[in-house]
Amino acid sequence: MTLTETSAVMPERIATKRTVLMCRPEFFTVVYRINPWKDPAIPTDTSLAVAQWQTLYDTYIGLGFDVQLIDPVDGLPDMVYAANGGFIIDNIAYGASFTHPERQPEGPAYMDWFAANDFDVRAPQNINEGEGDFLLVGGVILAGTGFRSASNSHAELAGIYGREVVTLNLVNPNFYHLDTAIAVLDDTNIAYLESAFDEQSLVTLRALFPDAILATEEDAAVLGLNSYSDGYNVVIASRAKDFERQLRERGYNPIGVDLSELLLGGGGVKCCTLELRR
Ligand code: ARG
Repeated sequence: MTLTETSAVMPERIATKRTVLMCRPEFFTVVYRINPWKDPAIPTDTSLAVAQWQTLYDTYIGLGFDVQLIDPVDGLPDMVYAANGGFIIDNIAYGASFTHPERQPEGPAYMDWFAANDFDVRAPQNINEGEGDFLLVGGVILAGTGFRSASNSHAELAGIYGREVVTLNLVNPNFYHLDTAIAVLDDTNIAYLESAFDEQSLVTLRALFPDAILATEEDAAVLGLNSYSDGYNVVIASRAKDFERQLRERGYNPIGVDLSELLLGGGGVKCCTLELRR
């Protein structure tokens, strides 16, 4: 008999200290609409955004993470979503090249930070929104396309890192970045929202991750999948209750945080977090 994770054997979950980059949302607001979550008619509260973001920062510090900070830039309200600032493995920082003109200046701002912090920076040839669309799972890079990162950036990624890149097609505009539809839990496990992907991508995901957690529409609708795991502790949206239950069942330690203000910009926990892998 073969044993899957959901039956008899519960593997031990092991936390690994992470190094991440974050950007305090001092200039956060919603003044342009580049995803369905954003409505410039709904007021935002910048000080509440900063306070909620601080809770996430403090949570990471409490988990023993090394949290680096990039200075926010006035006029770049989405810069708080640091995941989009680039993609880093093996000390190589592949820069972002944003789809929308409103975010394009963030690309060089992040690349300057990477260079100043001794990363080997690769200027992008193709449109891509960094770790928003590229997720490392073990040795494989899952790469999203459909709304933001162009599919030719996937080939560029494969060339830079010499790793397998698996293209996944996003089909629901509410889940426009891969990190809104997939949560990476550790080197072999993910959670995802099935309805965010086309049929071909689902075949791929089911083959690669037969034991994946399948998220509910309700949890995805509060960006519950937009979470960040150290292999044991999984920082999630506090409203994602079924996801929390499923994580516990699988031996993870879910930690809820409330980023409701940053949700008005269409981002959650993971969007505010860029992993720095030296
Ligand atoms: N307002 C931002 C945008 O639409 C949110 C980015 C969310 N980031 C992420 N990694 N999913 O671009």
